[in-house]
Amino acid sequence: MQEKTLVLIKPDAFEKQHTGDIIAIYEKAGLKILAMKLMQMTPRVAQKHYAEHIGRPYYAELEEFMTSAPLVAMVLAGDDAIARVREINGKTNPAEAAEGTVRKLYAESVGKNAVHASDSPESAAREIAIFFSAIEVLD
Ligand code: TYD
Ligand code: MG
Repeated sequence: MQEKTLVLIKPDAFEKQHTGDIIAIYEKAGLKILAMKLMQMTPRVAQKHYAEHIGRPYYAELEEFMTSAPLVAMVLAGDDAIARVREINGKTNPAEAAEGTVRKLYAESVGKNAVHASDSPESAAREIAIFFSAIEVLD
């Protein structure tokens, strides 16, 4: 099934200039870029995007990190894109991420873990709408 998913290249990976290498991994996997922007998250956007994590012990650090430097937001599309991008990204904790995954290659810790990707069709729709208006996403 053709799906769209929201991907963020997080501040750690952006600052270390891994943006191009990470996008190349998605393109080589056949995923299509439907939207892309460079931006810096505000605390308000972080609270919206990570709403389900507010109140967790790591939330303050997560918001601090996500707003600390620019990031790249994009919408990727493809067959089974939501699960495939999460597979390509690897486990949340880079120590547990499989060889060749983005997080194994570029993440430095559970918190500073290089990339975000939506985890379900519902979260993809919700998250895409936070970062992009309808006219910014290609058909
Ligand atoms: P989560 O949605 O569990 O992971 P994923 O990004 O793989 O979907 O958590 C969201 C982010 O919160 C995660 O990428 C990094 C941060 N986080 C921590 O810093 N410590 C933790 O123990 C967890 C679970 C998440
Ligand atoms: Mg998540």
